[in-house]
Amino acid sequence: MTSDVIAIDGPAASGKSTVARNLSEALGIPYINTGSLYRAVAWKLRKNALDPDTVSPEEVDRILADTRISYEKPAPDAPPDIRIDGVFPGQELRSADIASGASKVATMPNVRAWLLDLQRGMAKLGRIVMEGRDIGTAVFPDARFKFFLTASPMVRARRRLAQSGETVDGATLESVARDIAARDEQDSRRAVAPLKRAEDAVLVDNSEWESHQTLQFMLDKIKEKETMEKETVLNYRVPYADTDQMGVVYYANYLKYFEMFRSEMLIDAGLSYLQMEKEGIALPVIEAVCRYKSSAHFEDRLTITGRVAEAKGVRVKIECEVRCGVRLLADGYTVHACMDMKNNRPTRVPPALLKLLK
Ligand code: CDP
Repeated sequence: MTSDVIAIDGPAASGKSTVARNLSEALGIPYINTGSLYRAVAWKLRKNALDPDTVSPEEVDRILADTRISYEKPAPDAPPDIRIDGVFPGQELRSADIASGASKVATMPNVRAWLLDLQRGMAKLGRIVMEGRDIGTAVFPDARFKFFLTASPMVRARRRLAQSGETVDGATLESVARDIAARDEQDSRRAVAPLKRAEDAVLVDNSEWESHQTLQFMLDKIKEKETMEKETVLNYRVPYADTDQMGVVYYANYLKYFEMFRSEMLIDAGLSYLQMEKEGIALPVIEAVCRYKSSAHFEDRLTITGRVAEAKGVRVKIECEVRCGVRLLADGYTVHACMDMKNNRPTRVPPALLKLLK
């Protein structure tokens, strides 16, 4: 199962909040800054005069049991913000002191477990953008889109210093860089859900980019993945010419249906076979398998689906199923050798085709 979440993880001040907000506006979907949730817990401890360095796990449990955190609009036309026990702390959550407290409470397993449920619950209403440290690894390991955003330590320190109210008075570039490095260290070394890039996350180093370039890069990646995931469904009404003397679709036609499907799938992916041939690549069939399960008749409406199931070296395997309603009529596959038409020799599968591999 995949969660319809755009997960953005990365170190402090890497630009996550800005790009998450921009993405949410561009796509018209909600955005959750999960760092605010940890900041909210640190804020609550502070309200109760508890020091995150010395508080006991039991005391934290007691506080959490008596805490309500939600994401709500403070005013009808304002963007949603964190509400704790009925209060909107707003900018108070952004102070350097609360940031440091957040990083400490974030190492506590009971805090993470408590916030995990809250975060998962927030994704139930449809696609959302969620940013933090462990969204693509621990909260939504099955997120549909994953990004790991980073920037060089100096760029991040400069960005943080430019955010008013987020650093202590008299902070310098060096002191902010040190502060950020200490938090990154704590976030990356903790035992529970440490900050790390999920294997399948797209790495985005935005050190040299303006925010609109980061946004465009991520929007392009999202679109690319959506195009890849879109399943091709070919609909076909059986003509008289496809049937045999028994009044059913002649068995050899199914291989023609497989071919029609392949053509459609490639066009859907922006890769027409005609164009590939013009560019000197051919995909002759070297193996075909079709298993027949049920018959089709004149005027039946067939749906043909399939996928690139394997692509290795010079070979590509494309699976196919033919159905009439829910009834499976035939399934099978074709294996193709990728040929360089100029010198009539096998060649590696082009990267564009590899991308279709599911
Ligand atoms: O804005 P900045 O990147 O500086 O921090 P934040 O996103 O507000 O997060 C504050 C702290 O919460 C981080 O330093 C992490 O320790 C913690 N955090 C976390 O552990 N897991 C998350 N998903 C989000 C934040």
